[in-house]
Amino acid sequence: MTSCHNQRDSGIFVLPNLYGYMETLLIDKTHDESRQGEALAPTTSDPLTFTKRFYIESYGCQMNFADSEVVASILNKEGFGATRNLEEADLIFVNTCSIREKAEQTVRKRLTEFKRLKKQNKELLIGVLGCMAERLKAKFLEEERLVDLVVGPDAYRSLPLLVSEATVGQKAVNVLLSREETYADIAPVRLDGNGVSAFVSIMRGCNNMCSFCVVPFTRGRERSRDDQSILNECRELFEQGYREVTLLGQNVDSYYYVPAEADGSASAPVTFALLLEKVARISPLLRVRFSTSHPKDITDEVLYTMQRYDNICKYIHLPLQSGSTRVLQLMNRTYTQEWYKAKVDRIRAILPDCGISADIIAGFCTEQEEDHLDTLAVMDYAKFDFSYMFFYSERPGTLAARRYQDDVLEIVKKRRLQEIVEKQNQLSLQSNQRDLGKIFTVLIEGDSKKNEREWKGRNSQNKVIVFPKSADSALTKGSYVQVRVTECSQATLRGLLVL
Ligand code: 5AD
Ligand code: SF4
Repeated sequence: MTSCHNQRDSGIFVLPNLYGYMETLLIDKTHDESRQGEALAPTTSDPLTFTKRFYIESYGCQMNFADSEVVASILNKEGFGATRNLEEADLIFVNTCSIREKAEQTVRKRLTEFKRLKKQNKELLIGVLGCMAERLKAKFLEEERLVDLVVGPDAYRSLPLLVSEATVGQKAVNVLLSREETYADIAPVRLDGNGVSAFVSIMRGCNNMCSFCVVPFTRGRERSRDDQSILNECRELFEQGYREVTLLGQNVDSYYYVPAEADGSASAPVTFALLLEKVARISPLLRVRFSTSHPKDITDEVLYTMQRYDNICKYIHLPLQSGSTRVLQLMNRTYTQEWYKAKVDRIRAILPDCGISADIIAGFCTEQEEDHLDTLAVMDYAKFDFSYMFFYSERPGTLAARRYQDDVLEIVKKRRLQEIVEKQNQLSLQSNQRDLGKIFTVLIEGDSKKNEREWKGRNSQNKVIVFPKSADSALTKGSYVQVRVTECSQATLRGLLVL
């Protein structure tokens, strides 16, 4: 999976950050750990037409954050405007994640905090959205008695009805999964973005059935979104000033859409490589990223498409999960250690400057020391630029929970995770050192958090680079600049504008 990737529990996330020191965060993995639990609302002010307010907090993967923007769009049409202020909310939503146990605990804790507000305001409605809603279904209403709505990831169109049911005191639940829903026609309301980069969902669900993963159960079968609606959304974003789109799906390489002709007959299918190309052709000034790829599915065609277009970023998130062929087999990943390494070789051959990152799980069922050493060896081989690292957390209902014993002691899992983190720290430092002296095209995302006299931006390889602003006031966020890397730590690149 894996775009459902990213948190604040058993996961550890090591990546280049902005502050000049190495940051190792205990997170429950999303690609953007800093956003976990963030209350989202548009940065621009709402029209005054909204008479009621909703507050939404999102956890988990980028997909969930993108879904919250679909929810916002549906609620806006019902007269609810977003607020970041809990006190003024008529509706509170938590868009939840089930990927590891810790992610669920965080949400439960948060729900008990909302209890107080409900005591003060009897009219207040609280809703649980997303993967936990899907996993726990109506049980939620019994367990968390303060929850009024439980809505699964494919049921957001029924929110208006559910809200009105809940308003009159009925418990409102819809956790039906769909084989078709992609919310293709709903224009997401961009919440809290930087106005430069946006996420665009291209598919939903997952058919892979990795044995550790709850996603196929919470997000259902894989389905691809109409390519035209994706292109329209990306075009509109570009026209609004966005300069980067990230195409999102649990497994983007299996994107496959067959458009219908006007007469109802099927026309040529659109593969992921073709979709990528179509998005890249919107404008050379629009950067295109994607997440997540599955090592078994990413094709040469995708790699060659990336090679042909400068604006398709040279960065691939390629979850490894384990370096041991035996463990990979138990995980049902359908590739071997050799296959993974060959895929890395292929990427390097076609895209020599491509950044590669991974997801890694320590301590999966039956993992022995030699399996763990295999993982460390593949990390060395692949030279990951950064990784999202977790220890295994058994999820009820998954294949692994049913078939295998969670038999690696917690202390061993944590020690192995620590060794994986240390290995990644070394690799990240080496990767950053290799960038010293190089000049990169950087898309400016905004002020650096620490110092407003500095810009923060990203290179094609997805590394953040911080550099001092120049007297040239024409530069703004969304501008492309050339930056020479002059300093690095394990976590950060710093540089100077090349004028
Ligand atoms: N335990 C630990 N990590 C998990 N992931 C998915 N399921 C589990 C689990 N049960 C990790 C995988 C995946 C990422 C999004 O989360 O590495 O790629
Ligand atoms: Fe990713 Fe595998 Fe989970 Fe699908 S089942 S979301 S591919 S980890």
